[in-house]
Amino acid sequence: MQGILKDFHDFEPEQESFLSAVLNGLRKQQKSIPSKFFYDERGSGLFDQICELDEYYPTRTELQILKDHSADISAVLGSRAHLIEFGSGSSTKIRTLLDAMEQPLSYVPMDISRDHLLIAAKRLAGSFPDLPVIAICADYTSDFPFPNLGGGRKTGFFPGSTIGNFTPREATEFLKKARNLLEGGGMLIGVDLLKDEKILHAAYNDTLGVTADFNLNLLKRCNQELKGGFDISKFEHRAFLNREKSRIEMHLISLCDQIVPLDGERIAFREGETIHTENSYKYSVESFQALAEEAGFSPQAVWTDSASLFSVHYLKS
Ligand code: AVI
Repeated sequence: MQGILKDFHDFEPEQESFLSAVLNGLRKQQKSIPSKFFYDERGSGLFDQICELDEYYPTRTELQILKDHSADISAVLGSRAHLIEFGSGSSTKIRTLLDAMEQPLSYVPMDISRDHLLIAAKRLAGSFPDLPVIAICADYTSDFPFPNLGGGRKTGFFPGSTIGNFTPREATEFLKKARNLLEGGGMLIGVDLLKDEKILHAAYNDTLGVTADFNLNLLKRCNQELKGGFDISKFEHRAFLNREKSRIEMHLISLCDQIVPLDGERIAFREGETIHTENSYKYSVESFQALAEEAGFSPQAVWTDSASLFSVHYLKS
């Protein structure tokens, strides 16, 4: 059921043009396409499917941590706070958290994608009719004037280990911005942990090939939206652990020497050459806490599952 939003603030975030991002990325020595372009309608649907896969442990593990420790989490978050979500993620997680929170003052989802934001926010307002829902369409990694919520503490929520898709430097910058925005409030954040390579490898190389489709969807988008001429059968999904950098890297590898037309240009690929499409950094509890401290937060509590797959941190301002 759809509910009514208390407010909607639209900062009209400028989305970097797909064309210029792809052309810039493909002209580099190590070709690349930014991972934010995965999430068109088909890509978002494929990501939802990834979250349901047996091999992709982060989503269900984080949700279980939120459920198993809801009393502790609720005690740490305290009562009467505005809950501000960075990126309107899975509604199951926010529901679990709102159920656990004592008298939240409002729920404030922020997202760059207007349609996605409004659908998710109205659905949540329908389920929590007494809770003011204030949607903000903005790029939360940029500076924008955060609306006045009329007093009360602010608590941030950034689940899903989305922070892992930033480089550590970008992650620190993001946390600094979040800390300013929260004006003294704390932050609950989900962070994937470094673990056995087999588990990580399986999570990004699922047997059903959904992650491969998710990755290859970038080339489909290039063909459909940028007059590209990628022969999708001549590229393959690659995902591997870069241990030195503590991250999973996703690439699209060219299976032969080939020339691909794109918006009037001709892009040359050698056999075995790759397009780097995503980094997913994995942290230890300590390495993430050190990063949070660098951004000015004080780590106050951390919860993990019994297999130490995933962590949920509460950072005090
Ligand atoms: C959204 N993000 C945290 C996911 C991750 O695990 O880095 C995106 C993803 N890429 C492949 N599978 C899932």
